[in-house]
Amino acid sequence: MHATLRIIRDEHSSLSAVLRSIGLLLSESRRHGLAPDFRVLRAMLFYIDEFPEKVHHTKETALLFPKIRARSSEAAAAIARLDADHARSHRAVLDLQHDLLALEMMSEAADAPARRQRFEEEMQAYIAAYLDHIRREEVEILPLAERVLTVADWAELDAEFMRNRDPLTHREGDDAFRPLFKRILMTLPAPLGLGPAFEALQKSYPGGEPARSFWTSTSGDPAQRGAKAVP
Ligand SMILES: [Fe+2]
Ligand SMILES: [Fe+2]
Repeated sequence: MHATLRIIRDEHSSLSAVLRSIGLLLSESRRHGLAPDFRVLRAMLFYIDEFPEKVHHTKETALLFPKIRARSSEAAAAIARLDADHARSHRAVLDLQHDLLALEMMSEAADAPARRQRFEEEMQAYIAAYLDHIRREEVEILPLAERVLTVADWAELDAEFMRNRDPLTHREGDDAFRPLFKRILMTLPAPLGLGPAFEALQKSYPGGEPARSFWTSTSGDPAQRGAKAVP
């Protein structure tokens, strides 16, 4: 397999894992009546902003897509849609980072449950859209690239893609992002990561603790109304 394709698929795997972890962290925190760990959520959104949004997307839009477009018009509409996703999605992750900060800072406000509901819906929509974006690239674009690009195209792309690899998948040497990933892994509740399991976190937050009462409030979450209270 060409290095470019392997790198893109590896980076998609890492990103998918982080996206799915965010979704699970939110849904499991809610299910257990706990505040999610804001530090780990911040770390994961920061990673998405720093690498997939700034570097991975840029490599696809600036290097891969123009080469495919030059060789074939077959997927022109699909590529235009992916480029539009890239342009939109960086703004979206910046907004989500701000909304997460607002959620944390305003956790005592009267509208906190509604704010939480809105953040979770926006986050889940972002995750679903991103996973669909990755699927379209892998199903429609990468196989087309394999068919139409020349040996010279691949040599050029492979050299460029080797230059900026996702630190989450890059196993050689050390890099600035490694402590961030370690922190994500060590803080994410088990079984998502190596942090304390949700059940253990639940025991460490006795009833009446402010964050707990905020997250267990049902006023802004119709789906949770009538749900059994967390003991
Ligand atoms: Fe992309
Ligand atoms: Fe991609």
